[in-house]
Amino acid sequence: MSGECLAQMAVQVLTTADGRAKTALSRRHAAAWFAARDAGAPLEVGRASPPLRPARPDRPELLSPRDVPRRRPGTPEGRKALLHAVAHIELNAVDLHWDIIARFADVPMPAGFFDDWVKAPDEESKHFNLICDCLERMGSHYGALPAHAGMWRAAEDTADDLMGRLAVVPMVLEARGLDVTPGMIEVFRKAGDDHAVEALEVIYGEEVAHVAYGSKWFHFLCGRHDEDPKEVFHTLVHKYFHSTLKPPFNEEKRAEAGMPPDFYWPLTEADPPA
Ligand SMILES: [Fe+2]
Ligand SMILES: [Fe+2]
Repeated sequence: MSGECLAQMAVQVLTTADGRAKTALSRRHAAAWFAARDAGAPLEVGRASPPLRPARPDRPELLSPRDVPRRRPGTPEGRKALLHAVAHIELNAVDLHWDIIARFADVPMPAGFFDDWVKAPDEESKHFNLICDCLERMGSHYGALPAHAGMWRAAEDTADDLMGRLAVVPMVLEARGLDVTPGMIEVFRKAGDDHAVEALEVIYGEEVAHVAYGSKWFHFLCGRHDEDPKEVFHTLVHKYFHSTLKPPFNEEKRAEAGMPPDFYWPLTEADPPA
């Protein structure tokens, strides 16, 4: 793998379709990045052209959210559907993070930004595999059920705007994960599924850092452009996120991730904050 730059590694992950293969490559590239850093010979970020959309397996079938059948979490089938949806989110997250590296490689950023954006998809890859293991233990697998189409929309909408990408992906979508994961853990705890509880607890713990990376580098870029982070965040979320934010919020974990209430509460109304 010598001679490859980080942006090329990102494109290799994005153009790998199979979930297990994509995540294995993602983890190998992350290990190579950090090994080179530790050896005092960091890899170049370089340049590479990411695909408009990442390669994905033939299954799951992708449906509009309103056509994805809803199942009750009180049943084993419902719990499989819930984990299947989580696996789909994790696989999207792997691509979303590597896409940031490749797509915005021309924006000069400190090395620590790339460390964060390699660590995040490494962890998303682990999350995908943990959830796939749970599905397989239940006699299912990723691809057995339909999944939401349109998860890549946030990436397409913000393909030219790094601050918009940070506002929508880590600071809105991943922050939403912090709100809903404790309830999901309870569902599996009640069902006595210790493997799923353990997997979701790993995800819950590590997702706080992903939101924090978003907030940290969003604030950094606002500082670079001498702009007010809260105002810019509100403007960009209105521009790129096609919905309002839905309480209840996990205020404690959001605070831990550098997201104060005045960032997200005003976005719960349909109209822009005055
Ligand atoms: Fe994740
Ligand atoms: Fe994440």
